[in-house]
Amino acid sequence: MQAVTVRDREAGLAGLALADLPYPHMAENDVVVRVHAAGFTPGELDWPATWTDRAGRDRTPSVPGHEFSGVVEELGFGTTGVSVGQRVFGMADWTRNGSLAEYVAVEARNIAPLPADIDHTLAAALPISGLTAWQGLFDHGRLGTGQTVLIHGAGGGVGSIAVQLAREAGARVIGTGRSADRDRALALGVDTFLDLGTEKLEDAGQADVVFDVIGGDILDRSAALVRAGGTLVTIAMPPNVRPEDGRAVFFVVEPDRARLADLVRRVRDGRIKPVVGSVRPLAEAPAAFTPATRTPGKAIIRVTEG
Ligand SMILES: NC(=O)c1ccc[n+]([C@@H]2O[C@H](COP(=O)([O-])OP(=O)(O)OC[C@H]3O[C@@H](n4cnc5c(N)ncnc54)[C@H](OP(=O)(O)O)[C@@H]3O)[C@@H](O)[C@H]2O)c1
Repeated sequence: MQAVTVRDREAGLAGLALADLPYPHMAENDVVVRVHAAGFTPGELDWPATWTDRAGRDRTPSVPGHEFSGVVEELGFGTTGVSVGQRVFGMADWTRNGSLAEYVAVEARNIAPLPADIDHTLAAALPISGLTAWQGLFDHGRLGTGQTVLIHGAGGGVGSIAVQLAREAGARVIGTGRSADRDRALALGVDTFLDLGTEKLEDAGQADVVFDVIGGDILDRSAALVRAGGTLVTIAMPPNVRPEDGRAVFFVVEPDRARLADLVRRVRDGRIKPVVGSVRPLAEAPAAFTPATRTPGKAIIRVTEG
């Protein structure tokens, strides 16, 4: 099968190449999915899990990309809830070959059925951004109706879905980002937008939950914006500075079939809309990682038409 691979950690983005790999090995509780569309995270070549398996052994050549939409090709022993030929979408394991390939083997519990009227391109943009936004706001942030949430990177993949979910939950939303993100963030539903390039973060006011996707200095300074009893949630890096009277949480998104099903129902009902930035064929996936070619929203790789 055709797949995008990396073999040499030192090579960086230049090491991404299209290659011919064997059909994936299917373990117990796995399904093999024929990938129609796949997403990736630009920074994933820096993750240790891209290079080693769970036991820390070299697993190159490895296939990046950890979210996808496609059709079930084959079922392994012990799988439940999906059938051969079914449209599905979901997440691939961090320490196994990913979704920038014609086929991917994943645990059945990491995928959910995809309704017939949702396009694979849109569905591939949902798993990681949607689950991360939900888990950050509600599981870790414990955001409630009537509370205020400050969402950094409100025009990006995770931030744009977090804004829509928070609005629907009845929260007041302050979004941040670059000046170019302002109109998109307002259209998604932020009550106010703060341009991190020209405005002072400290002027954003206090929030019950601060959701950080940027890290560094922005994350450090965000701790002071958390109201007493509130939470600083970050997906970028473990925080160095904690709120004086509140919690700080760094987490890594977890697969969740039931939540995926809920999120795709919301897409179908027009309640949330993943932002797709660009759509390219598999052969152009290596170029799609390059920062200079990126457009706002998720970069989606269309692997198979139909
Ligand atoms: N821990 C987890 O489970 C988890 C899950 C998903 C994602 N992540 C990580 O979270 C981060 C965000 O993911 P994403 O998919 O939302 O990325 P994304 O689509 O690139 O969104 C990030 C947004 O923040 C903006 N931004 C970044 N730095 C900024 C700055 N200094 N000032 C103003 N705006 C800034 C970006 O603008 P520009 O595009 O203009 O820079 C973009 O709009 C990535 O590092 C990703 O690897 C972690």
